[in-house]
Amino acid sequence: MNDTVHALLNIIRERRSYALKELSPEPVNLDDVKLMLEAARWAPTHGMTEPWRFCVFAGASRAALGERFAEAYRLLTPPEKYDPKAEQAQRERPFAAPVWISLGMLRTGQDKMPEWEDLASVAIAAQHIHLMAHSMGYACKWTSGEIVRHERVLDLVGLKPPSKLLGFLFVGRPASGVVPQASRSPIEDKVIWRV
Ligand SMILES: Cc1cc2nc3c(=O)[nH]c(=O)nc-3n(C[C@H](O)[C@H](O)[C@H](O)COP(=O)(O)O)c2cc1C
Repeated sequence: MNDTVHALLNIIRERRSYALKELSPEPVNLDDVKLMLEAARWAPTHGMTEPWRFCVFAGASRAALGERFAEAYRLLTPPEKYDPKAEQAQRERPFAAPVWISLGMLRTGQDKMPEWEDLASVAIAAQHIHLMAHSMGYACKWTSGEIVRHERVLDLVGLKPPSKLLGFLFVGRPASGVVPQASRSPIEDKVIWRV
């Protein structure tokens, strides 16, 4: 194997998901974010639909994002479960990472391709962003809970149904040298070779 092959495999293997509390508040260089998005642009796309739509939040714009998370929490939470502290935590959540990138999938209702194919395409674009972030020393995670995918958040990123949000990638610098642990089972357990 040549050096490029090794380098690529190592980037793929060593990419990790970091929790918000594992990020430092150090700002992220937006030119680096542009490089991440350039990689996203080259995701495969069946029918050339290029369904990915991103919105980058940094600095003060994270307050508007936090307001929508808080609103989504209120709308999704039954009155007997409502907790004002949990609402406040949603409001403050975006400030735990310097950059949030929304993962939007554009759909019009008159779409050329089945939804799952556009979904797959946006997911691959997200992976390109994550791999680029990792290769530049950033820490990142895809967060996809129902709050961050809510229609009120979709509206903030300039999309409307049937377009969807698949969640967000938050990006920052790792707070320490401690790398989160992850493992995978051997690929032999999941492959049938008929050769
Ligand atoms: C589609 C998708 C959605 C995810 N959503 C979440 C999430 O909401 N919260 C979370 O903690 N991790 C989420 N993750 C990250 C996984 O938890 C993570 O990939 C897994 O723990 C393996 O760790 P690694 O990425 O470091 O290999 C998501 C990953 C994918 C592919």
